[in-house]
Amino acid sequence: RDELSLQYHGLFLPKETHSQDSLKFAEDFKFEDSDVIAVTFPKSGTVWMQEILPLILNEGDLTPVQTIPNWDRVPWLEETRLALVMDQLKSPRALVTHFLYDLMPASFHQSKAKIIYVMRNPKDVIVSFYYFHQMAAFLEDPGTFDEFLDKFLDGKLAFGKWTDHVKSWRKPELGDRILYITYEEMKEDLPTALRKISRFLGKNLREEVIQKIAENCSFTVMKNNPMSNFSLVPKVYMDSDKSPFLRKGVAGDWKNHFTSEQLSHLNSVITKELDGFTLPWSLN
Ligand code: PPS
Repeated sequence: RDELSLQYHGLFLPKETHSQDSLKFAEDFKFEDSDVIAVTFPKSGTVWMQEILPLILNEGDLTPVQTIPNWDRVPWLEETRLALVMDQLKSPRALVTHFLYDLMPASFHQSKAKIIYVMRNPKDVIVSFYYFHQMAAFLEDPGTFDEFLDKFLDGKLAFGKWTDHVKSWRKPELGDRILYITYEEMKEDLPTALRKISRFLGKNLREEVIQKIAENCSFTVMKNNPMSNFSLVPKVYMDSDKSPFLRKGVAGDWKNHFTSEQLSHLNSVITKELDGFTLPWSLN
């Protein structure tokens, strides 16, 4: 892990996509009031938001999602690509981040930039992360599912503990700057989720535009979009024969992976760490 990761405020981040320079760049980043940032723990719907946000902001114009790779279209605040594409971002800018709240730069707190926090059931996050560790050469080998589960619960994987992440972003002072949404509700009824996100961003889109966006953000269309499916990444970094980035795209795949012992262990650790903390979503 030491070869593959760098440490930042106690978190391990992959060196392939993060550097001391990129983290300094994030610290100095100047947020504008018109910015929107989707915040996710890894494997919770980041790339989905990189598709949804430009389509909503551009009122259904497919050009950005068909011509710009997702990592440049809606860059990660903390990753190396941001400095390279920053000048090409059009206002209103859309970004993503896996940062916990306390890592956000000073300008974020001074701005009125909007935040969309996407949560996913942690059991499905673990499964998705497990396969991602198998296919991404820049992440440590996941070992067995049991070993991987322990690392996840101990906060030893990239971006630390899931519970710390969701708790950190539950900040009443963010008021109506933040919209909480779940992967599961997007999966259940994408048009309704898109209407919710559009309203939050002050976009009153016609129903046919919502339907067009929903079609283009479906798992199948994204899986076939070379600008969104990571097929542009050389196989030595991401090997889709081991597991594609857009893998299954469903809610509930955890049922195919957890033993009842693993499940009760996870439930007890998460319940203890949430410590009565109420999430703005239901964990089912
Ligand atoms: S990362 O590496 O943190 O940026 O990964 P992230 O994009 O957050 O999460 C990847 C999972 O999201 C799924 N995904 C989708 N599901 C449903 N519909 C759409 N359109 C979609 N786009 C991405 C992706 O398949 C990963 O989940 P799993 O369970 O592994 O399939």
